[in-house]
Amino acid sequence: MNMDKSVNIPEDETKRQFYFMEKCKEWLDCERQKLGRPLRMSVQTLGCQMNARDSEKITAVLEQIGYENTEEKAADLVLYNTCTVRENANLKVYGRLGYLKKQKEKNPHMKIILCGCMMQEETVIEKIKKSYRFVDLIFGTHNIYKLAELLYTQICSETLTIDVWKEADQIVENLPSERKYFFKAGVNIMYGCNNFCSYCIVPYVRGRERSRKLQDILAEIRKLASEGVVEIMLLGQNVNSYGKGEEGYPSFASLLKETEKIEGIRRIRFMTSHPKDLSEELIEVLKNSKKICSHLHLPMQSGSTKVLAAMNRKYTREQYLTLVRKIKEAVPEISLTTDIIVGFPGETEADFEETLSLAEEVCFDGAYTFIYSRRTGTPAADMKEQVPEEVKKERFHKLLKVTQHVTRMAMEKKIGQTVTALAEEINEKDDRWVSCRLSGNAIVHCEGDATVTGQFIEVKLTENKGFYYMGEIVPHNA
Ligand code: SAH
Ligand code: SF4
Ligand code: F3S
Repeated sequence: MNMDKSVNIPEDETKRQFYFMEKCKEWLDCERQKLGRPLRMSVQTLGCQMNARDSEKITAVLEQIGYENTEEKAADLVLYNTCTVRENANLKVYGRLGYLKKQKEKNPHMKIILCGCMMQEETVIEKIKKSYRFVDLIFGTHNIYKLAELLYTQICSETLTIDVWKEADQIVENLPSERKYFFKAGVNIMYGCNNFCSYCIVPYVRGRERSRKLQDILAEIRKLASEGVVEIMLLGQNVNSYGKGEEGYPSFASLLKETEKIEGIRRIRFMTSHPKDLSEELIEVLKNSKKICSHLHLPMQSGSTKVLAAMNRKYTREQYLTLVRKIKEAVPEISLTTDIIVGFPGETEADFEETLSLAEEVCFDGAYTFIYSRRTGTPAADMKEQVPEEVKKERFHKLLKVTQHVTRMAMEKKIGQTVTALAEEINEKDDRWVSCRLSGNAIVHCEGDATVTGQFIEVKLTENKGFYYMGEIVPHNA
């Protein structure tokens, strides 16, 4: 098929993409007639909330083109939105590609698309070009908005199409967007990261920090509220540096205050907060807010000041603890969660003990624990004193024991309380159970049915399961 160049392609980027959605749709209509059935897609997401949000945008564009959702094995188009933060995220994709190769042999017209963070790495592209030629389209993190145009180019050329950019050129607003839940939504407030923690690949694959304009963010939230969304999550790799370095942008704390004013929004969350940029102003806003959830995800990474310095985190153990104290003083009921890495290069047994003791001292309500993974191109990858795999594993298991214990203790305090929860979804395995989220972000499972999803309900917390609760719905008139 040749690309139709007889008409003028719109210059405005949003209009341009709608134009290409139409072109893809024309092609898809022909395919549908040939096959005598609708074309189906499966969008798979690896990685963090950023990727999850990107996948919602991707799904919306593909739906606009006319694809219907299905499971992977029945799909005519499979898209993997990849992550590369740790090596196992990477390995998973190669594993899936092996499986998809067989699927494509059975179903040759199937399209395989790869995008996201892993595609920003040159070595990955080289490997795919060499060993996975059956992939149809590859793009990166900076040109997701071009999906329709790229897909159309691929359809016309019928060969492996690759378009990966080193940096973003613009923030394109007003493209289609989907939502997994009708009552809650993620909203990007910024893209990229400037922090260059020495272990982390994100700044290399997501580019420099770029903040969205306040008015665009608020307009999106108002629209979501008008559609019935009650809970929003403001997303960024380091939300505390929102607007920094940009002329006329408010602080993150001011953005939160503005968000609070939006009618219909009842809960506000945000992710992630870098401890070095968490301001007094933000603590004040948290303290006085009625809508901001009593949850703060505050990655500590390590409890050793020496390791924190080598990680380029720009705070010490003491500064982290002081910050936690201030936050707990201002908002005593707040749930604190964290990320911790073990086995960073040069981490000694004594450093590791400091991580354990900091986790115990803060008594986190939840912790994501990771074994340090060497990422090519990051400063830590070249550090000499890499910790042997067995030592890393051993420390990881010790840490897990400690964090599981502190989480259980932190959760225990709430047993017997009746709290407000937002009912999110029916349990996949047993439809008598509904999963609800507390303000502090913990999940409570209650007996209930689909009629409560999307509603705020009162729940009595009856049992502590270590990282979630069991509870009972308390009727309104009880
Ligand atoms: N921007 C967020 C984190 C994004 S990545 C922040 O700064 O908090 C999520 C988590 O993955 C990090 O907090 C860190 O704990 C972990 N992580 C990042 N790179 C890693 C690596 N190379 N090995 C192991 N864990 C890593
Ligand atoms: Fe990675 Fe650090 Fe940026 Fe988080 S703040 S994304 S850990 S470089
Ligand atoms: Fe992974 Fe990219 Fe997020 S590397 S953690 S999906 S920003």
